Amino acid sequence: MTFLHAAFPHSRLRRNRQDEWCRDLVAETHLSVQDLILPVFLRDENAPRTIDAMPEVFRHTLEELKDLCKKAQNLGIRAVILFPYTDPALRYDDGKEAWNPNNLICQAVRVLKDALPSLGIIVDVALDPYTSHGHDGILKNGEVANDETIEALIKQSLTLAQAGVDVIAPSDMMDGRIGAIRKALDQEGHQHVRILAYSAKYASAFYGPFREALGSLSLLGKANKKTYQMDPANAREALREAAQDVLEGADMLMVKPGLAYLDILYRLHEQFPMPLFVYQVSGEYSMLKAAAEKGWIDYKKALMESLIAFKRAGATGILTYAALEAAEFLQDKGHDQ
Ligand code: PBG
Repeated sequence: MTFLHAAFPHSRLRRNRQDEWCRDLVAETHLSVQDLILPVFLRDENAPRTIDAMPEVFRHTLEELKDLCKKAQNLGIRAVILFPYTDPALRYDDGKEAWNPNNLICQAVRVLKDALPSLGIIVDVALDPYTSHGHDGILKNGEVANDETIEALIKQSLTLAQAGVDVIAPSDMMDGRIGAIRKALDQEGHQHVRILAYSAKYASAFYGPFREALGSLSLLGKANKKTYQMDPANAREALREAAQDVLEGADMLMVKPGLAYLDILYRLHEQFPMPLFVYQVSGEYSMLKAAAEKGWIDYKKALMESLIAFKRAGATGILTYAALEAAEFLQDKGHDQ
């Protein structure tokens, strides 16, 4: 970098670091509770509540959902993103439960819109909670078929819009799905429904605990999602993915997972004047929890450090399973980090 800069001993960078008030004053980035989006898993009464690989994260019934979201809102969290654990009896090859207007997610959207009208409701769009094979789309000759899947995603999106969702977040990584969903929403009078595009979503091992939560892990078996999710080796390709989503009408972009993809987050932030979100995914959360359980790291400090890293790299906001904890940490002001 070329700029005028006094040399040592005139310049001493430690001078600004000597007390907390000054460190706070010169901090370049800040984390606020308004940056946080809470992912929530849903279940019907018969489904198990606990998730082995995600300590302190649960699947919630509609009744429990209301209490959880009330708590989140009281802490200052502005939005949640919903994921269903679907009854295995309702999982079909084509994932048709996704466009059942009375499915668990649609019920949840209606419950929340009624109980907490000022809470933002985001719903993930993809078929994996609903398919018998655990893939995000419809299979043809054993492969996820792009255009057939888009038709299904359109039905899913319209059903969600009808139920009253605020933001649709396609996480399926089909080509052309943002434009197709936007067009269908507009044709049906849902111009106000926003699209948060999972633009740069990588084929990642860090999704394991989430798939357990959804019940899709065992269905997927040894299969993987590499023909539609991105290769972790690629960064420039993420710019093309994001550019397409922007051109197709995305309102907001997302990078996922988080910490292992900070360079992608930074590049998208530099390249696109768009609201940009990052997903601290299940495996990232579980690693923090597991190391903390062993007494090997300080959970609070490690969590808050990872969250400020996302802000530093350019995130507008963060989806994290630790949103409630982080909100509480931000509240007890004596931040001793
Ligand atoms: C579904 C979806 C996944 C996640 C969000 N939406 C899993 C996957 O693509 O297999 C992962 C979230 C997490 O791990 O926390 N398309």
